[in-house]
Amino acid sequence: MTAQLDELESKALQELAGIDQVKELDTWRVRYLGKKGALTAILRSLSSLSLEERKTVGSRANEVKKLLEDSLKQKDQSLRETQFTADRQKETVDVTLPGRPLPVGHLHPITQTINEMCDIFMSMGFQVMGGPDVEWDSYNFEALNIPAEHPSRDTMSTSWVDYRNESDNMTMLLRTHTTSVTARVVETMTPPIRVIYPGKVYRYEASDATHVPMFHQIDGFAVDKGITMADLKGTLYEFARRFFGEERKVRFRCDYFPFVEPGVEMAIECLNCRGSGCRLCGYSGWIEILGAGMTHPKVLERGGIDSKAYGSFAFGIGIDRLPMLRYGIDDVRLFYGNDLRFLRQF
Ligand code: DAH
Repeated sequence: MTAQLDELESKALQELAGIDQVKELDTWRVRYLGKKGALTAILRSLSSLSLEERKTVGSRANEVKKLLEDSLKQKDQSLRETQFTADRQKETVDVTLPGRPLPVGHLHPITQTINEMCDIFMSMGFQVMGGPDVEWDSYNFEALNIPAEHPSRDTMSTSWVDYRNESDNMTMLLRTHTTSVTARVVETMTPPIRVIYPGKVYRYEASDATHVPMFHQIDGFAVDKGITMADLKGTLYEFARRFFGEERKVRFRCDYFPFVEPGVEMAIECLNCRGSGCRLCGYSGWIEILGAGMTHPKVLERGGIDSKAYGSFAFGIGIDRLPMLRYGIDDVRLFYGNDLRFLRQF
């Protein structure tokens, strides 16, 4: 029986030495050390031996068992180590690979429109300026020839700011138009003046497809000796040609704004129906895009500009409608919803 054990031992160890895959180790374990394995069979048959024989064979059998178990453990570890090193070598980092591109954002369509408009007016000699969104009533209304009870205040539903100061009785609001900056410019600049100011304006209104409580305008203002209505028309025609294209028809009509006299409105041929009339243009064929006029003497005089010596024109353009017309967007709220699926298109 001891001879049988010797043979088993050498056979098992030889076989183990030939294994080169971790997953084959278990088959080996079952074959020699498992419940139905070769060694277990020998251990079971010990009971048929005499006491003397049992002692020698038993201790030899346990010796073999321990040796096989230890060898298995060692083999398992060394195979795993070899595998690990091999895997590491396969996984080396290729430092010459180009990096993954990071997602890059872009300017909001309204910002793009503002930049484009500023470029056009800048090329005609206008300087870009700004003014505060939170404004005094005096600059938004009073200085623009819109006194307290003037009906045109009603057309611009105002968001008032709750501000109180004992020492003055000035009222604060969110500017309803960028024309408020004109009231500041006449105080601080001296002619010749050619300025534009794009920015946010606020109206106390519910949102729908064509209204939002915050939107954008750009106002322009020019003062110089000899400025006439022809300069106003020339400037705005040039803007329309550059922004909408050479072939686009433009129309001027009389309009009323307290801060200009005479006042006009400019419309362009509807981009959707090209003048034949559709829902977008209210079946008129025209779409109004701005108000303008020759600056009212009261506005100039308040800033100390001699209205007899200087000519002056002003205009105010609603910005949000322009990309809507250009791209056929039918709901202004899309600009303010921050839905990237929408914004990524521009
Ligand atoms: N501020 C006017 C508005 O919001 C637009 C406007 C009209 C501006 C005529 C002007 C102008 O500068 O001359 O409706």
